[in-house]
Amino acid sequence: MIPIRINESQCIGCGLCVSDCPNACLYLEGSRARAAQTGCIACGHCYAICPSGAIRMEDYDAVEEPVVSMAELSSDTLLSAMKSRRTIRRFTRAPVEPEKLAKILEAGRYSPTGGNAQNVAYTVLGGKQAEAEAICVRLFRTGKKLGAPFIDFLKRVEIGDDFFFKGAPLVVVVSGKSDINAGLASAYMELMAESLGLGVLYSGFFVICAKISRKLRKLLDLPKGHKVVSCMIFGYPAVKYRRIVPRKPLQARRL
Ligand SMILES: Cc1cc2nc3c(=O)[nH]c(=O)nc-3n(C[C@H](O)[C@H](O)[C@H](O)COP(=O)(O)O)c2cc1C
Repeated sequence: MIPIRINESQCIGCGLCVSDCPNACLYLEGSRARAAQTGCIACGHCYAICPSGAIRMEDYDAVEEPVVSMAELSSDTLLSAMKSRRTIRRFTRAPVEPEKLAKILEAGRYSPTGGNAQNVAYTVLGGKQAEAEAICVRLFRTGKKLGAPFIDFLKRVEIGDDFFFKGAPLVVVVSGKSDINAGLASAYMELMAESLGLGVLYSGFFVICAKISRKLRKLLDLPKGHKVVSCMIFGYPAVKYRRIVPRKPLQARRL
């Protein structure tokens, strides 16, 4: 059963939905839009484009919010903010307000997914944060012991009890079946968090631990078939960066 319903009496037969459907699920019959029974990915483009509001998406709540174009944001400010963003590794103890967490998760939920799969999940470590960190710390301490005789910098690395989460108040594990979908969701969440005055650290180290440790995977209890794609640590920055860091030259070309 496809998830859209067309209200015949409201349809004005303009064909906008037909030309915008990415999977050719809609067609005009006389002066009314009709939906084929297969192929719909519930992207909602027909719903969004219909000038008369004739389309409903079954099983989804309608969103009663006005459309706001990104073009309303200043691209210069956006680019400067993107360049000024830094990974944060020192956090204050201040908690992240629930409203801010909700906005961060909502930003992830609205990121694009291939085929509109919406197959990304978010696990807030909450009461299990300390336990998860302790598992990671034990794992890395063992790794350090084994590797230090061969890898010089490992001798210098101190793996304290807060090595992974840096005393930050909020950790969200982003998981999915697709790296790109969960990665995009993470980037959306990061930008939202930054705009809320929060700092973010991606923990690739945690992702490694989740690959190695069955105990950690058990604690995370991810949806079936999901793997950890990113681990995002949020909190208020206890550090201020004064300069934009130089980057390698742009590697872009036109063929
Ligand atoms: C996918 C990913 C994983 C990362 N993992 C870690 C990590 O485990 N520990 C850490 O200290 N920094 C981690 N970082 C931060 C990078 O080291 C950081 O982005 C890089 O040093 C550049 O600094 P900047 O983000 O301030 O520009 C990670 C960043 C990304 C994008």
